Amino acid sequence: MKKVLSVFMILCMILTVCRAAVFAADADITIMLQIGNPNMTVNGAEKAIDEQGTAPVLINDRTLLPVRAVVEEMGGSVEWVEDTQTVILAYGSDTITLQIDNPTAYLNDEAKTLDTAPMIIGDRTMMPIRFIAESFGFNVGWDDATQTATVSKAEDSSSSSAATATPAPEAGGKTLVAYFSCTNNTAGIAKHIIDGIGADAYEIVPEVPYTEADLDYNSDCRANREQNDDTARPAINGSIENMAQYDTIFLGYPIWWGNAPKIIFTFLESYDFAGKTIIPFCTSGSSPIGSTAAMQSVTPGANWLDGHRFSGGSSSDVVMEWVNGLGL
Ligand SMILES: Cc1cc2nc3c(=O)[nH]c(=O)nc-3n(C[C@H](O)[C@H](O)[C@H](O)COP(=O)(O)O)c2cc1C
Repeated sequence: MKKVLSVFMILCMILTVCRAAVFAADADITIMLQIGNPNMTVNGAEKAIDEQGTAPVLINDRTLLPVRAVVEEMGGSVEWVEDTQTVILAYGSDTITLQIDNPTAYLNDEAKTLDTAPMIIGDRTMMPIRFIAESFGFNVGWDDATQTATVSKAEDSSSSSAATATPAPEAGGKTLVAYFSCTNNTAGIAKHIIDGIGADAYEIVPEVPYTEADLDYNSDCRANREQNDDTARPAINGSIENMAQYDTIFLGYPIWWGNAPKIIFTFLESYDFAGKTIIPFCTSGSSPIGSTAAMQSVTPGANWLDGHRFSGGSSSDVVMEWVNGLGL
């Protein structure tokens, strides 16, 4: 009887967490977790991973941490079953069940073998974040240099959301590749396009360059402050003399907290793009290009095509395959 009752109670718990998670948030979210750092950043805002100040650890090349706050930020829910040392995580209609020291986890009914089992370190329950996030359909990136894992999901992760019917650019018009790049990843992709189609190049250079500290997204850095400020419009050094000669503009930028950096808005608000075709591209740790709706709203009359996200080191072949597929 006792056994039947406890099975019933676990079922009730699963149902409760599932119901809560049906309302999981689907909006753009980027969570950054750094080994040894007890704080995570959620869309640029710094938050504690737990009340005890526990930091993520790296074990067998896997990032483990107490996952309650992270999963709740993702829009899911967490239940701990003390008797069986089991954690039940729910997100949308998916449920993951993990048990301390057990390398077999369950995604819904499907058994999955983990290369690093959940474990207790000190008195904290440490869970493998990549397995959890990927099972729930999130992207997970890893930056070895900063020992940072990036967990992200965009509302529309396929591509920029606002592409519409596309009139071909005016015949005879020139093509410009305008790009902003602080650590040269986006610059590399821009160069492949410039060389590949013989376009003109324009680098969006900030009047005040971004230092390494300005880009340290694990701190309250300049880039984070700008991304959290709707009115931020960092000034650009120089300008394009004759924008009228261009009817097609490839626009490149890095993803900062799921979006284009604010200096891209400075650029877009500096010229009249009516009648021109804008094709966005970006680089990121793992985040997709996401929606371009906010950028479209400041370029009335412009025709935006679907954008594309590249990894920093993408080859010319990969980039040109995308460019050639645009049918320009
Ligand atoms: C302030 C800041 C925020 C970032 N946010 C994200 C992010 O939300 N998702 C992601 O995958 N990468 C993020 N990154 C990583 C960059 O998008 C990535 O390193 C990019 O390739 C840099 O391009 P660049 O070398 O052209 O500047 C961020 C980097 C910085 C500096």
